[in-house]
Amino acid sequence: MTSPSHTDSHLSSTLRENRMFPPPPEFAAKARIGSLAEYDELYARSAAAPEAFWDEIARELHWFAPWTKTLEWDLPWAKWFVGGKINISYNCLDRHVNNGKKDKTAILWEGEPGEVRKLTYGELLSEVERFANALKSLGIGKGDRVAVYMGMTPELAVAILACARIGAVHSVIFGGFAANAIVDRVNDAQCVAILTQDTSYRRGSQVKLKASVDEALPHCPTVKNVVVYKRSGADITMQAGRDHWWHDLMAAAAPACPAEQLDSEDPLYILYTSGTTGKPKGLVHTTGGYSVGTYFTSKLVFDLKDDDVYWCSADIGWVTGHSYVIYGILQNGVTTLMYEGAPNHPECDRFWKIIDDHKVSVFYTAPTAIRAFIKWGDQYPLKHDLSSLRLLGTVGEPINPEAWMWYRDMIGKGRCPIVDTWWQTETGAIMIAPVPGAVATKPGSATRPLPGIVPEIVTKEGDPVPPGQGGLLIIRKPWPSMARTIFNDPERYEQAYWSEVPGSYFTGDGARCDDDGYYWLMGRVDDVINVSGHRLGTMEIESALVAHPKVAEAAVVGRPDELKGQGISAFVTLESAFQPSPELKDELRKWVAKEIGALARPDDLRFTDQLPKTRSGKIMRRLLRELATHGEIKGDTTTLEDFSVIAKLREQDE
Ligand code: WTA
Repeated sequence: MTSPSHTDSHLSSTLRENRMFPPPPEFAAKARIGSLAEYDELYARSAAAPEAFWDEIARELHWFAPWTKTLEWDLPWAKWFVGGKINISYNCLDRHVNNGKKDKTAILWEGEPGEVRKLTYGELLSEVERFANALKSLGIGKGDRVAVYMGMTPELAVAILACARIGAVHSVIFGGFAANAIVDRVNDAQCVAILTQDTSYRRGSQVKLKASVDEALPHCPTVKNVVVYKRSGADITMQAGRDHWWHDLMAAAAPACPAEQLDSEDPLYILYTSGTTGKPKGLVHTTGGYSVGTYFTSKLVFDLKDDDVYWCSADIGWVTGHSYVIYGILQNGVTTLMYEGAPNHPECDRFWKIIDDHKVSVFYTAPTAIRAFIKWGDQYPLKHDLSSLRLLGTVGEPINPEAWMWYRDMIGKGRCPIVDTWWQTETGAIMIAPVPGAVATKPGSATRPLPGIVPEIVTKEGDPVPPGQGGLLIIRKPWPSMARTIFNDPERYEQAYWSEVPGSYFTGDGARCDDDGYYWLMGRVDDVINVSGHRLGTMEIESALVAHPKVAEAAVVGRPDELKGQGISAFVTLESAFQPSPELKDELRKWVAKEIGALARPDDLRFTDQLPKTRSGKIMRRLLRELATHGEIKGDTTTLEDFSVIAKLREQDE
């Protein structure tokens, strides 16, 4: 374990931070929870009796059959709403169609080239039912794993809701990942099918999704069928018998498909995320608890109202897209906006134009995006009328107070509360965030835990840390939307999350809590780096590097980056037959992008004769991190096996 990876300057600026912004009175007056007293009361009640609390919330959803027990807890194995029968696609769609919202816009979509499509709840339900039948016509059913490798199109929402409707388990793979990443994920989950599209638009060019699937498929023996949505009409190859056009299957499918009555603990989806080893973890979310968690947190944190136009700019390849583009928002019957492309296409004002054009009222994005907006300049937001906004959110990494203030002043015009939401793929739903009508905000702090969530900051030994001091963030009690396991690897789940601090869920994050009970997140304490809000394991990148025939050994560390939060530094030793060269450096960076995806491309890469190691042969990443960050090493080097390594590394740096 290492010390929190966040930058020293970030830490000192948040330590000095003492501004506090109470909820604007006009906002609080209309909010679902409009006073601190109300939040305090709810929180106290939820912490005293979490099961009764969650029980009450779960009743707001539609269940085909009630549960007999709220929680069955056999540490670390949780079962929520035991015996209950539910379907999240029913709660996202049928429930609203049956309650007079058939003609309300469910998905408001804008393509990067500029076209707009609106799907009402009624239309979305029809599409989902038909596509569910299309999946069935391919022999896909309950429990089958289906990979989804698509761009941000309405069909993507249809695809995952249709899987959910029949109980097939979707595994969404980020469209920016390369063929190798598809192979690993598809094979790990033994997916029977891949849903994809010809290409998707990004920054004016086309991402060749189907071509990457074609490259992956020879190595994916379990995949029998591929469904291809025609987004752009680009030239692609279709293999007869295996590849099917989305529109052909839809034309042939029957219209009605009632939602499968699933068990509360039936798996809903698998989503891969990076951990401390080279192999990504397939986190499994189940149906009942995830429904309850995403429904409740969407309603509370975004203070959702019937007439909201809500926009979360996250890609569906990440958990934020799952919980807060689709599932949490549609369960609340609100209009969710989906945008296909880049924030700076054709101009750097695209996001502000979208907000203006569609009168977006709640906007949720990432600190890395905010830092880019700041860099691009105030003239872009100033060109547009942003007065429809009433609430702003951030997620993915700690937000620096300067970016927070800019977001508040420039985008929210001081009127909109900012919800800095802390959570993870593993938690399924937001855990720490201000309830916007009740909890005053402090720039850079995710503020206080949501009702039902009991976090704590402890030492490595599990002892409580006093206010103001940094430590490990853990969660004491189970919550409904927690991931249940790692697909096919329960031991790893137990080991990664439940053994660091026995009896508690270990988040992998460092944090401190101030005297007001506000949480300040300080970054990862493990070998996970957060590049533009995307999680990458250093080991994954190292494995990709050593797979190159010229590389003998590699070590990868994160270092502060003004825009991306963290950048990637790689240290590489070559096989003896090869010499370092600028061309080889370039080749290796490209290699990583090809092996994993562009987001994993090292920002800098240095060749070295040797890596610094302990006497027991462990690479001392801490030293490399110091070197990558400060250009020098000040920390303790006594456990180094060979001191000359450091001198050589430093020489190279100059
Ligand atoms: C980081 C994204 C500080 C954190 C939802 C966590 C944050 C990891 C915040 C999870 C935040 C996310 N403040 N740090 N508001 N939100 N993180 O699984 O390190 O992609 O462990 O889930 O992102 O990333 P993941």
